[in-house]
Amino acid sequence: MKDLAHYMRPGTLQLGALPPLSLYVHLPWCIRKCPYCDFNSHAMAPGELPEAAYLDAVVADLEQSLALVWGRGVHSIFIGGGTPSLFSPEGIDRLLGDIRARLRLEADCEITLEANPGTFEKDRFRAFRDAGVTRLSIGVQSFNDAHLKAVGRVHDRAQAIAACEEAAAAFDTFNIDLMYALPGQTLAQLEADLSQALALAPPHLSVYHLTLEPNTYFAKYPPVLPSDDDAFAMLDRITEMTGAAGLARYEVSAYARAGHRCWHNMNYWQFGDYLGIGAGAHGKLSFAHRVLRQVRYREPARYMEAARAGDAVAQEEEVARADLPFEYMLNALRLKEGFLLRDFTERTGLPLSAIEPALAQAEARGLLAREPGRAWPTERGFDFLSDLQALFLPHSG
Ligand SMILES: C[S@@+](CC[C@H](N)C(=O)[O-])C[C@H]1O[C@@H](n2cnc3c(N)ncnc32)[C@H](O)[C@@H]1O
Ligand code: SF4
Repeated sequence: MKDLAHYMRPGTLQLGALPPLSLYVHLPWCIRKCPYCDFNSHAMAPGELPEAAYLDAVVADLEQSLALVWGRGVHSIFIGGGTPSLFSPEGIDRLLGDIRARLRLEADCEITLEANPGTFEKDRFRAFRDAGVTRLSIGVQSFNDAHLKAVGRVHDRAQAIAACEEAAAAFDTFNIDLMYALPGQTLAQLEADLSQALALAPPHLSVYHLTLEPNTYFAKYPPVLPSDDDAFAMLDRITEMTGAAGLARYEVSAYARAGHRCWHNMNYWQFGDYLGIGAGAHGKLSFAHRVLRQVRYREPARYMEAARAGDAVAQEEEVARADLPFEYMLNALRLKEGFLLRDFTERTGLPLSAIEPALAQAEARGLLAREPGRAWPTERGFDFLSDLQALFLPHSG
């Protein structure tokens, strides 16, 4: 990592203020690798997790990064994976203590931990809360045993229900992750999954369209998936059923009761800043004249070695001025409410004229709506989001 003066030197951007700062911590292990998953997760027996050594590395990584976020308060922490609930509550307690000793957390700092719904994890939920976690995100995926098996999950329906009930009892707020358009899934089966999820009254629900990602087992041996038309019909039902249950769709895949949106993810979508520590973690940090992106070493052993040696950052680059409008819009247009025009200027350091032609074109095509000071995707824009986002690519301006 270069010294601070390097990041503070003059440049062509003029950021009026620095955005809110979040912290992402990546814990990269799972009991087994799911066939659809391209996250940085590695199979490991729970007894063999190098927990203490990994947490030492994460704290060393944090210390090496402190100069880049000096004096800034942290509004949210997201401990993601992988399967963070494989870490012991004592480990999470230590991690949060080490973070608190080095960063100033805002009084209402949201602290999310991703958990898998296995029995062994469920019994730790209260201890995670006692360690300071304020929000649990449970990777249920489906309540249908046949579909859980088809996507290679280690838990079953009964364990998923028990885990959600425990999360509801132990936490003020929690999230359920579901996936839809699963191998062989019918609309009726999707409705059954969603009814079961809603019966557990989650304050927040994330519902992802199962995608075949390159370099996964499913990419090599693709399962038979519902057609695009069927998947569209499923998404319509998801929006209707969640809406009727009081969970509003506020982002492409996110539904929440009032007051329960995920602050951390909102900050990503609003082009806020995040320091990403842990194996393979991505970060985005703003300075008065530049926006920086960082990636840590991906392979856990390599990462630990690098963090111990004093520099866990594998790649670092400034976002090019020409790429900033697209990067901003890629995020902001995922939000139903869109964005404030002054936030675009504040977060990219660019004048509004940088996107004005594309905004006008998007509006003319019925993909975007505007009122003074704000722009948001129309229903049509939301359905054809990648077309809308593409209007902001550097070459189309
Ligand atoms: C980083 S994963 C971690 C959560 C936890 N390890 C789990 O899987 O239960 C976050 C979520 O991304 C979603 N996800 C992962 N791979 C996906 C894919 N190929 N298509 C759609 N959603 C996916 C799943 O819903 C998962 O819960
Ligand atoms: S449990 Fe989650 S992070 Fe781990 S392999 Fe499965 S989807 Fe990926």
